[in-house]
Amino acid sequence: MRENSNKKINEQQQGKSLIAEQKTGNKKKVYIESYGCQMNMNDSEIVASILSKQGYNTTSVLEEADLVLINTCSIREKAETTVRNRIKHFNSLKKQKPSTKIGLMGCMAERLKDKLLEEEKLVDMVVGPDAYRDLPNLINELEDGRKAINVLLSKEETYADIEPVRLNSNGVSAFVSITRGCDNMCTFCVVPFTRGRERSRDPETILEEIRSLQKQNFKEVTLLGQNVDSYLWYGGGLKKDFDKAPEEVKQKAVDFARLLDMVATEFPGIRIRFSTSNPQDFSLDVIKTMAKHDNIAKHIHLPVQSGSDRILALMNRKHTVEEYKNIIDNIRKYIPDCAISQDMIAGFSTETEEDHQKTLELMEYVKYDFGFMFAYSIRPGTAGAKTLEDDIPHHVKLRRLREIIDLQQKHAQYRMEQFKGKTVEVLIEGNSKKSDAHWMGRNSQNAVVVFPKTGEEKPGDFVQVKITDNTSATLFGERV
Ligand code: SAH
Ligand code: F3S
Repeated sequence: MRENSNKKINEQQQGKSLIAEQKTGNKKKVYIESYGCQMNMNDSEIVASILSKQGYNTTSVLEEADLVLINTCSIREKAETTVRNRIKHFNSLKKQKPSTKIGLMGCMAERLKDKLLEEEKLVDMVVGPDAYRDLPNLINELEDGRKAINVLLSKEETYADIEPVRLNSNGVSAFVSITRGCDNMCTFCVVPFTRGRERSRDPETILEEIRSLQKQNFKEVTLLGQNVDSYLWYGGGLKKDFDKAPEEVKQKAVDFARLLDMVATEFPGIRIRFSTSNPQDFSLDVIKTMAKHDNIAKHIHLPVQSGSDRILALMNRKHTVEEYKNIIDNIRKYIPDCAISQDMIAGFSTETEEDHQKTLELMEYVKYDFGFMFAYSIRPGTAGAKTLEDDIPHHVKLRRLREIIDLQQKHAQYRMEQFKGKTVEVLIEGNSKKSDAHWMGRNSQNAVVVFPKTGEEKPGDFVQVKITDNTSATLFGERV
């Protein structure tokens, strides 16, 4: 859940303050800060939508907020430490304006529950990822002077009927969530505990949301889920109960390849992305569907975590390196110009130098376009924490991580060079960060492209750009 950057190692540590232009008569103000994955960003948009019906507009000015919401991440220890440090800053805010209420949402809220209220005295409200519909009641409790908490996980909640308020939007690309939760139980991962069991959203509500985005002139949607390839709609309910469904229900089920096909067919003018794919659920059908539709972006984020079969088994990733390479070969066969990106974990329990070398070897095989790389951070409550020892010294983890990042940097440079001299289609997102005389956009492969304005294009336009130069993170060119 991702940005195209090879430099950012810990991409998810920075909180993002989220606002939207809202011209409603709402009087109260909510300040929302979001940490972690794209799913969290999208959840914040759902929360903004729920709160706008309760009289709240978003604000970017912390001091004028009646309600401060922090959407938190638990994926690594550092993500939690960042949020705890951030909470300390609210001390002076509360002194200035004691009526300001502070709420924590998201994965930390779910993981720590009422302990968060005990440990963080400044916090008034704790809300888990499946409980956002209850916010109006929780806020009522706050207004009555009580602390409030709801961390119930749900078997059905997909917020299917709630149209997110697009926060910090460039007006060009938007997130649309298609699944919630995850059943995969990778032994290092806290997500199944904080986001609950996996469930899919009714495809008709997904199409409806994209229709609305199309009317508002959005040109790109990213279909979101912890594990999108495992998407399965058979009338509602948990993924794990599908086997028990009657035969006629099974016949009509919509899987991810079918959903992609439906979206790509109905919206030929919209570029479609998706994230994240788990190799064990990734099917040849998805690759074929991508090859069939020009408007499905040629990029697959396919985290592998390690290049060693022994470590993959310990991580409970249900595929081997050979099977993973097979998927890569198929992607290259059906979609030769497809970008592939990774997530890697350095220094998982018992990882030897030999295992680490296997990771580097796999990277050499794939030559990923970009990636997100992390040192293993043991998470309380996971199978990894219960049954395995966090036995790799910190400095060894960091050294291995550095080697992985350096190799990725080299491969990114190699992949970006391949675009030189080629003409690529770019969807313009807005001004380049460094110069108002240049546009910034992305090509189908998700590479950032910067080029001079000619005065004849605007954000949201698809334009042809000939690439003349590159760094490992950016392509430069000119319109043709
Ligand atoms: N399916 C998810 C992946 C979960 S989190 C998604 O949609 O993005 C993203 C990445 O964080 C994982 O792929 C993994 O590389 C990393 N990660 C998860 N738990 C971790 C841990 N305990 N320590 C270090 N990295 C971790
Ligand atoms: Fe986590 Fe594995 Fe699911 S990384 S989100 S348990 S696919």
